[in-house]
Amino acid sequence: MPLGQRIDCGEAKYAGVSLHCEADIVQSLQDCLECGFDFLVAPLASSPERRPAPVPQTPGQAPPPPFAPSDMLLSSAQWSSQVVGRVSSWIDLDSPDLALRRDSEVALAQELAWAGHLSQQACILPPPPRGLRCARYARALNHALMTQPNMALWVTLPLAPPAGEEEKEDEAGGSAVAVDPPSAADDPWEWWHLLRCACDHSTRLCVALDVSRLPAEPAEPSLERWRGENLRAVFLDAALFKPNRHGHWVLSKRLQSVLGEAFAYGVQVALTVDGGRCFKNETSREAVPEESSSSSSAPAPSRPVAFASPPSPQVLDLGQREGLKARWEYLSYLFRKAPPAGAGETSAGELGYRDYLQSPLQPLQDNLESQTYETFEADAIKYTSYEEAIARALRDTLLTRARNADGEQAPITPPEYADPSFSLTADDGNAPPCHVRRPPLLPPPCAPEDAEAIVAVVGAGRGPLVAAALSAASKTGVRVHVFAVEKNPNAVLTLQHRHSLDGWAGRVSLVAGDMRDWKPRRQVDVLVSELLGSFGDNELSPECLDGAQSVLREGGICVPQSYASFLAPLSTHKLWTDARGFKEVERFETPYVVRMHRARVLAPPQRVHEFVHPAPQPADNERCASLSFSVDGQGASVCHGFVGYFDTELYGGVRLSIVPETHTPGMNSWFPIYFPVHAPFYVPKDSTIEVTIWRKTSRHKVWYEWLVTSPVPSVIHNPRGRSYYVGL
Ligand SMILES: C[S@@+](CC[C@H](N)C(=O)[O-])C[C@H]1O[C@@H](n2cnc3c(N)ncnc32)[C@H](O)[C@@H]1O
Repeated sequence: MPLGQRIDCGEAKYAGVSLHCEADIVQSLQDCLECGFDFLVAPLASSPERRPAPVPQTPGQAPPPPFAPSDMLLSSAQWSSQVVGRVSSWIDLDSPDLALRRDSEVALAQELAWAGHLSQQACILPPPPRGLRCARYARALNHALMTQPNMALWVTLPLAPPAGEEEKEDEAGGSAVAVDPPSAADDPWEWWHLLRCACDHSTRLCVALDVSRLPAEPAEPSLERWRGENLRAVFLDAALFKPNRHGHWVLSKRLQSVLGEAFAYGVQVALTVDGGRCFKNETSREAVPEESSSSSSAPAPSRPVAFASPPSPQVLDLGQREGLKARWEYLSYLFRKAPPAGAGETSAGELGYRDYLQSPLQPLQDNLESQTYETFEADAIKYTSYEEAIARALRDTLLTRARNADGEQAPITPPEYADPSFSLTADDGNAPPCHVRRPPLLPPPCAPEDAEAIVAVVGAGRGPLVAAALSAASKTGVRVHVFAVEKNPNAVLTLQHRHSLDGWAGRVSLVAGDMRDWKPRRQVDVLVSELLGSFGDNELSPECLDGAQSVLREGGICVPQSYASFLAPLSTHKLWTDARGFKEVERFETPYVVRMHRARVLAPPQRVHEFVHPAPQPADNERCASLSFSVDGQGASVCHGFVGYFDTELYGGVRLSIVPETHTPGMNSWFPIYFPVHAPFYVPKDSTIEVTIWRKTSRHKVWYEWLVTSPVPSVIHNPRGRSYYVGL
C-alpha cells in the first residue's frame, strides 16, 4: 500500500522489506504485504553459505540439491512485481583465492540467471568486497547487463565508508563512522564510479544505498552527493527504530532527514529485517533523547512486545509483525509530512516535465502554437512584473519630457482616472509592486498623434503584454497609444479578436509582420518585448531588437533593459543518458530545456555574458566567456555538462530571474537549459572545472560552442553550429 497519496515523490511511495535471514518466502511476503509494504527483497539462494561450484557429475550420481527455493512457491506475477532477488553476499569475484573466485563466478551467473527466469525487474547485488579492486566484478556486471536485457542491477553501497574506522554508537543506537573524509580507495562513490564507467553508464545499473551507518557528528548525513546518480533505493536497518517517550517507534533526526531526501528524489526505502533481531529492542521502554524523538502527531504506537529468540527458519511471530507494521506507519508518517519535492509542481501534468528533455523554442523561425501561448499566459508573476516595469518606464518618460521642457524636475498632476496608489514623481523605491492580478484596466482611447507616450509591444503573441501596457497606462494616468507587432499570423488572428472584444479599439494598433521591417510614422517611447529563452539570448532577442531598435526615439526605453546568462557545472546521469538515447551526433551538441530534478549543481552559477538595450549599433552579438568553477564538496564527482539560467532587468529595478539563488518567487515560465558534454568526466575532490562558451553569429544563424579545458579537455561541442543553431 503506498506510504501516502502524494504525487511529487514518484516511486518513493512504495516501501519494501529486505530479508537478511533464511526465511519462508511465502510467509515473509505475506507478512510484508500485510504490514503495509509493497515489495520484499529476498535472497535468491536458499542458504547464505558459500556454495561450491558444481563438479561434473558421474553417470548415476544424484544431482546437487537445488540452490534456490522453487519458483512454484509464488505466482510469476508475484515473483516479478512483489519480490526483488538479492545475490549472495559471500560472492567475491576479485578474491586472490582462485577457488573462491571460481565458485563466485558460477554462483553469480546461477543467481542472476534464476532472477531472469523469475522475470524480476531488478536484482540487488552486494558492494564490491574489495572496493576499487573490482575489475572482475565490473566485468561480470557488464556481462549480466548484456545477457539480461530486461533486468536492472542495483548495487548496494554503504552511504558512509565502511573500512576499519573507529565506530561509535550514534544517538539512535546505530553505528556511526569517524568524520575523517575517506580516501578515494575507501570511498563507496569511487567504487560506484568505477563500476558505472565499466558498464558504459548503463541506465540499468543502479545504486541502492545502505544508510544504516551514518558519518559521525558533526558531519551531516546527506544523499546530496548521490542526487545526480542513478540512485534507486535506500536500505535502512529496522533495528535503528527506537521508542520515544510516548512509546512511538521513531528514527533519529539525522535518519529522518536522510529519508526526507530519499522521498524528495523519488527513491524507494526498504527496511532491513534480520529475523527477529531487529525487533529485540522493543522490550525497552527507555525514551530516546528529545532531539531524536518524533512529535506527538506521530502515528499511534503499536503495542511494544517482548521477543523470545527468533524461530528458525525465520517466520515473524505476531508481535514481530506488529513491530514491522509500526515501522511502516512511521515511514508513512514521515512520507506524508516531508516537504514538497521539487519546484512546486501541483499536477501530474507538470510532474511529467521533470527531467524531461525538450528542444528550446525557436519563436523567430517557427510559429508558436496556441497551447504554448496559453502556457506562457498562465504565469501571472511574469506579466505583473512587466506591468510594473512598463508603468515605471511611462513615468520616467513623462518625467524626462517635463524636465526637458522646464529645465528642472516638474511635478506632474495625474489625471483623475489614474490609480492614486501609483506615484508619478521620481522613483523613491517604494512604488507598489503589481503582485495581484486585477481585471484588466483600460486607459481612455488615444490616437497615436495625441499620445503622451507611444508603446510598442514587439512580438506581442496573443497580447498579454499589450494588456499589461494598457493596465500600466491606466495605473499611471499616462495617455498612451500601443502598437502590437507580431509576425505569427495565427497569433495575429487572436490579436484581432481581442482588439474588438477587449476594448482595444482607439487604444491599440495591430501590425502584422516582422518587427525588423516595421517602419512606424512616429517613433516610440517604450519598446516592450519578451523574446527571452532559458539562457536569455538563445531565442534571438538581441538580433530581433537590433532590427527593431530604429523605431525607438533618442532616449527611449527598452523593456527589458538588459539580460545576462549564467552557467554552472552539473552532475546528472538521467539527463545525460536520455540525451544519449537520441542516437545521433547532435544529441550531445544540443542544449535542452528541462525542469531539473535528479541533477546536482556542482558549483554556484557564474555570469556568462550580457546584452543591453538599446544597444550601440552596429551591434556585435558575439560573445565568449571562460569560466572557472571551484568544486568542493563531499568528494569527487562526475560532470555531465552544464546548466544555464538567465536573469533580466526589465526596467527601473524590476527584475526576473531563473538563477536558483535569485529566482523570482512563483514564476514558472522558464525551465533551466542543459548543455551536455560528449563524455562525462571525473572531477577530483577540491578541483576546478574550466569551460569556455561562445555565442557565435552568421548571416542566417546563431549558435553556441562549448569546450571543457579542465580537469580534462573535451572536444569543442557544436563547432560552426553543425548540430544546433537558432535560425535568423
Ligand atoms: C516568447 S513569445 C512571447 C509572446 C507574448 N509577448 C507573451 O508574453 O506571451 C515571442 C513572440 O514573439 C514573436 N516574434 C519573434 N520574433 C519576431 C519578429 N522578428 N517579429 C515579430 N514577432 C516576432 C513570436 O511569434 C512570439 O509570438
